[in-house]
Amino acid sequence: MRHLNSLLDMIPADVESIFAVSQELKTRSARGDRPQVLSGRVLTQVFEKPSLRTRLSFDAAMMQLGGNSLFLTAQEAGIGGRESVKDVARVIGGYSDVIALRTFSQKLIDNFIEFSGVPIINGLSDERHPCQALTDLFTIREAFGDLKGQKIAFVGDGNNVANSLAIAAAICGIAMSVCAPVGYRLDDDFLKQLKKKYPDSQVTQTDDFKSALKDASIIYTDVWTSMGQEAEESQRRQVFGPFQVNAKLMKLAPKTARFMHCLPAKRGLEVTDEVIDGPQSLAFVQAENRMHLAKGLILWVLEKPIG
Ligand code: CP
Ligand code: NVA
Repeated sequence: MRHLNSLLDMIPADVESIFAVSQELKTRSARGDRPQVLSGRVLTQVFEKPSLRTRLSFDAAMMQLGGNSLFLTAQEAGIGGRESVKDVARVIGGYSDVIALRTFSQKLIDNFIEFSGVPIINGLSDERHPCQALTDLFTIREAFGDLKGQKIAFVGDGNNVANSLAIAAAICGIAMSVCAPVGYRLDDDFLKQLKKKYPDSQVTQTDDFKSALKDASIIYTDVWTSMGQEAEESQRRQVFGPFQVNAKLMKLAPKTARFMHCLPAKRGLEVTDEVIDGPQSLAFVQAENRMHLAKGLILWVLEKPIG
């Protein structure tokens, strides 16, 4: 059975096939052609954290493909209170063809994989955000026409988004430089795992903006304080202050470079209005592409062709 838990579980051919299906469905959708391949199918989403894009993009993807979606907060589902995770996972699995989860701990997603009996999609955990990273590489390919030779400079916190983006970059054979303060970078164990699976991966870490940005085609940032880290917010604002992506920082990159952000953005902190609303920004293309990628991903986990 297929799941999307970590991108480390995928091979390049999986990513290629998800991109191809997502691209075909995006093109067809633009002309009003929406194949009803998921008629009668149910996606259930169970979230411990808030969401705009992930939740709605999965809802819209299911609806446009003729399927349906259900939503429960983890609290409503009784996780961690009313029933054991194992029992909740089994019950939801009985009603659903596929389940998407958004969690604090990675363990909860692992438990659903063990007990639900249906494909599971990781819709963000404290460690990972694989759906976002797949969408980002899809968006880069669309914007530049080709992934070959592209380089991402990720400026900010080495968080869940950076983690999955590093794997996606390695899968697609593109370089990524994480420009982050010491203590807020991708951790060594993760980098070892990545190198083990992709010995040629070109992921580096630095706090030197000039070297990170000089040959970058993408300048990517995310919030300095992720969901669940609110108690550290004031300290993080201080540490990351010099890492703001503003017009001056963008000038360190080639003129052809594009700006990316997974959203939600804290305008005036990690990014300024002039950058996120400016002509180099792909942030809202990424947001829309979450839905197109969700379609390709759901069909991939269900092993269902477009027909
Ligand atoms: N980028 C992203 O996952 O957005 P949401 O938190 O709104 O789902
Ligand atoms: N790093 C952010 C991403 C939100 C989509 C968080 O985890 O809150």
